[in-house]
Amino acid sequence: MRNIRLGVNIDHVATLRNARGGTHPDPMRAVKIIQEAGADGVTIHLREDRRHIQDQDVKQITQHSTLPVNLEMAANGEMVNIACDLKPNAVCIVPENRAEVTTEGGLLIAGQEKKLAPFIQQLKENNIRVSLFIDPHPREIEAAGNVGADIVELHTGGYCDATLLNRDKKLNDLMVAAKLADKLGIEVHAGHGLSFDKVAPVAAIAEVKELNIGHFIIGEAIFSGLENVIKEMLYIIRKASK
Ligand code: PXP
Repeated sequence: MRNIRLGVNIDHVATLRNARGGTHPDPMRAVKIIQEAGADGVTIHLREDRRHIQDQDVKQITQHSTLPVNLEMAANGEMVNIACDLKPNAVCIVPENRAEVTTEGGLLIAGQEKKLAPFIQQLKENNIRVSLFIDPHPREIEAAGNVGADIVELHTGGYCDATLLNRDKKLNDLMVAAKLADKLGIEVHAGHGLSFDKVAPVAAIAEVKELNIGHFIIGEAIFSGLENVIKEMLYIIRKASK
């Protein structure tokens, strides 16, 4: 049986905390529940505008989490230095646009290799695995291989937002991209917009090793509790990935 991993993105625990400027709800408490519920990793995004996760959260979580930590960040000197200092297990490089509500599209690597390669090299020299968040496009997979990425995280937003008519095509794009990445020796992750209803076909793609899911899990936790939601998500993805 393929042991697909679930990384839980807890940015929006921090969003809620920051709404009142205090300490509750505490993202570190969420990390403990995520572990107890059986998930495999914790994901946090340190945005340049610090709208949810703060520097202090990254410090606390990388120091005290017993689960592997995946730090999402933009490719710039400030973020790379923070990562090399705090040493998460993995960094996922994402495009960042200050005005966006969430990460809107994948990174455009093709054409940006010269800018990205030194950052990737610095992270790898610090024993941090490097993932690139990209749209499921063969050109971007090949470019990810050329700049030395260990992992590609395929953006599933296009599939999740597709109309019923278009969903099979979008799923097929993910399948083709996953196959190509695997053939090139790049580990395949996927995420963005996944929910109980949409996750199974993505979990069923044989090459996908890890899913990163945030907004739906944290939102649904308001109604059912974080531990219950994670257990249900794990049940769905493990059943689909058998
Ligand atoms: N993966 C990446 C690279 C992301 O940027 C995000 C959103 O922060 C996610 C996964 C999780 O997406 P969602 O919150 O829609 O589940």
